[in-house]
Amino acid sequence: MNMNLKDIYLPIQKDLEEVEKEIRRSLQAEDSPLGDIYKHVLLRPGKKIRPALVLFSAGVNNPQITTLAASAEIIHIATLIHDDVIDEATLRRNQTTINSGWGNETAVLAGDNLFASAFFILTSSVGPEIMRILSRAAERMCSGEIRQIKHKFDLDLGEEDYLEIIAEKTGVFMAACCQTGALLGKKDKKVVDILERYGLDFGIAFQIVDDCFDLMGEEKKLGKSLGSDMRRGKLTLPLIYFLKESNPTPRSFDELRQSWLASKNGLREKAIRDSLKKAREYIIRAKEGMKAAEESFFRDELLALSDYLLERGGIQ
Ligand code: IPE
Ligand code: IPE
Ligand code: MG
Ligand code: MG
Repeated sequence: MNMNLKDIYLPIQKDLEEVEKEIRRSLQAEDSPLGDIYKHVLLRPGKKIRPALVLFSAGVNNPQITTLAASAEIIHIATLIHDDVIDEATLRRNQTTINSGWGNETAVLAGDNLFASAFFILTSSVGPEIMRILSRAAERMCSGEIRQIKHKFDLDLGEEDYLEIIAEKTGVFMAACCQTGALLGKKDKKVVDILERYGLDFGIAFQIVDDCFDLMGEEKKLGKSLGSDMRRGKLTLPLIYFLKESNPTPRSFDELRQSWLASKNGLREKAIRDSLKKAREYIIRAKEGMKAAEESFFRDELLALSDYLLERGGIQ
């Protein structure tokens, strides 16, 4: 099966066009010195996974939901711009990063400005409950990133810690996209909770796959800088598994890196395979959870998004 996002997005294609327009309106309205940066950002759209989670979970569309989906993408772009500063990345969405084109200072401010724009368009459209969920998610995203930074070069970081960190930095925001989409789509509490859980598990799996790509992927194919996790001392799941099986055990992050790069006995491949297996477990759990929800949203499309992720990771 060849899953492609365009096909999965078919039922929300028109809605996504509205979302894109709203993002453009919101950024272009900014008559600010950031104009050239926004033009650059708007040139290359990403996969639009977060707006899709909003729209699929809502199951319907109205201007409020469009605004929610647009602000989810704007918040995501802001985090990517900041993340690229942290990771010293030079390539994002097949073009230069803001930090490499304009410098770190400007990139930090551009990210801040985007966060503010996202919350600005939300305030005039959604109520306090949605605001609370999204601002809390943004807060947790930062705390996940900070925890990761605190553990830089720390070989004692365990699998549980890693899973908690990626749940915070990636899962919680995806969960919030599903939850707020479902709330604005007026779903029952039970369905809202199921979708929130789906987003969390999907997000964790998403980050595990991404972390495997960072070690084994191709920059050209993914359109972004890779290899920064190991370079910047981030112990991701494949490295945790690799470390566990290494003999002799590397005593420093640098030794681990050397041993990973020199590995010829298939240990590296096994570590990747085991990590992808873990991602698969989360995807299975995400899909299982959906069974209990009555069909008042785009369930099949959300399930297809999970299959897309499995296929992307080359997971059987
Ligand atoms: C990248 O997210 C950041 C992670 C959470 C791994 P995406 O892979 O969704 O990025 P875009 O939006 O498609 O560029
Ligand atoms: C980013 O993680 C996570 C965020 C939530 C910002 P990564 O650093 O792995 O994302 P990429 O690989 O640069 O897209
Ligand atoms: Mg990064
Ligand atoms: Mg990554």
